[in-house]
Amino acid sequence: MQTKDINGFRMAYTDEGQGSPLLLVHGYPLNRQMWAPQIDRLKDIHRIIAPDLRGHGDSQPVPGPYPMDLLADDLAALLDALHIDQPVTLCGLSMGGYVALAFYRKYAARLRALILTATRAAADTPSGRAGRDQAAEVAGREGVAAIVEGMLPKLLSAGTMKEKPELVGRVRQIMLRTSLAGVQGALMGMKVRPDSTALLPAIQVPTLILPGEEDQIIPLEEARAMYDAIPGAIIKIVADSGHLPNLENPDFFNRVLRSFSGM
Ligand code: MLT
Repeated sequence: MQTKDINGFRMAYTDEGQGSPLLLVHGYPLNRQMWAPQIDRLKDIHRIIAPDLRGHGDSQPVPGPYPMDLLADDLAALLDALHIDQPVTLCGLSMGGYVALAFYRKYAARLRALILTATRAAADTPSGRAGRDQAAEVAGREGVAAIVEGMLPKLLSAGTMKEKPELVGRVRQIMLRTSLAGVQGALMGMKVRPDSTALLPAIQVPTLILPGEEDQIIPLEEARAMYDAIPGAIIKIVADSGHLPNLENPDFFNRVLRSFSGM
């Protein structure tokens, strides 16, 4: 594990491989370990930087809230600390995608391309915001494990839940490593994130959209709406996959990434 002191906390990250930089940004409540199949199999063509966002994985559990802009600032600070000044491909999954759009708003010149996977541009609905408050309260009262057990069946497709117990166990272990501060900080940050829909037509870097076909958390229509709005975007729907397409169907996911990187 590598670490850097940035923006007032210690950020853990993986930095492996050779080639143009690929910044992998995990979802909630996950960490960089969710990118193992990408780090292993794409490091021959990319220098892969995979951080643990504040409060997640091995990064320090600083108090929240974690607005998406702040998480984008953390990514920019990590790139600075690593002296990466060439434009990067930023791949964000779910909350990582919210951070990717915030990063585009603030640091577009630092981007070579965007990969938006299992994510959406819209802000939370009023009932979604109420759900964030409720989840933060449950996490405080019952602990992170209660959040993990509640989310797990929604994160993965029915097929993954039934046929891949090893993967289900791995995802559970990854999520359980999120601190209480991380869970609550991310929830409160996602709750106030702005609607990025108006940004989409202005995106000027090549963009790949990679939804899981059976995602129960972010329906496919949200991915199609981003595809329609972003000029020149490419969409590839990941079969046999719920909200974690990079883990549920890594062969397809990696093949698409590899071909997008070569374009
Ligand atoms: C995630 O996977 O990052 C979250 O489920 C996103 C969300 O709760 O909006």
